Amino acid sequence: PSRKFFVGGNWKMNGRKNNLGELINTLNAAKVPADTEVVCAPPTAYIDFARQKLDHKIAVAAQNCYKVANGAFTGEISPGMIKDCGATWVVLGHSERRHADAGNGRVRTLVSLSLLLLPQGIDATWSSFNGRQGSVGHRHSFPRETAGYLLPVHPSTCDLCPTDNVKDWGKVVLAYEPVWAIGTGKTATPQQAQEVHEKLRGWLKSNISDAVAQSTRIIYGGSVTGATCKELASQPDVDGFLVGGASLKPEFVDIINAKQ
Ligand code: G3H
Repeated sequence: PSRKFFVGGNWKMNGRKNNLGELINTLNAAKVPADTEVVCAPPTAYIDFARQKLDHKIAVAAQNCYKVANGAFTGEISPGMIKDCGATWVVLGHSERRHADAGNGRVRTLVSLSLLLLPQGIDATWSSFNGRQGSVGHRHSFPRETAGYLLPVHPSTCDLCPTDNVKDWGKVVLAYEPVWAIGTGKTATPQQAQEVHEKLRGWLKSNISDAVAQSTRIIYGGSVTGATCKELASQPDVDGFLVGGASLKPEFVDIINAKQ
């Protein structure tokens, strides 16, 4: 399958113009393989700054967005604002945002604005998912419990299931991030990542379509480093990475080139 390798750098709530500018200079000077897509997600305050400074071989993402275009929503940013600043992706449903996120009207809004989604969020290990699958037996149990995913969903309300609102899967990248691996220095083994990614693809095949399963990028996140990226990237169902800590360091360039 020709799934373009995808490397996302999630800067989370880090950096100032000074050191982000240095990082951007390093990235601008780096080789980005033609068959790899690279996206960086700066803090909201620096989206515009990053887009203006970053070479256009690197796309920019927001780390979250609200579900409507304008209005009295103090502290939120809209898809239109993100686009206006030149960003083309958004990280939606990161586990670090779950305390604040509710409802997935956002998915509908984003799709209508042709923004791209970088969904993720997983809070269970694969074995705990396996334990629950049999008893839940609900079509939505897979993403709710496990998967690199758009948003938290309410198990019994189909209207809230993000996958029901995705009109164009070509705009979606799924990220699998076991919470025990995020920021801990404990990377999943290539075998662990492959096992989950393969099952995620199987879920897409059963619940969406074979074509979507074959074409959707499923990326891994959780303590990916320059040292661990190559072996992870060699797994057949690992289509890239969502990188936190290491995306702020020069070794991010090695991760961009993990497939080379
Ligand atoms: O969005 C990125 C992830 O949460 C991974 O972060 O590479 O610092 O573990 P990390």
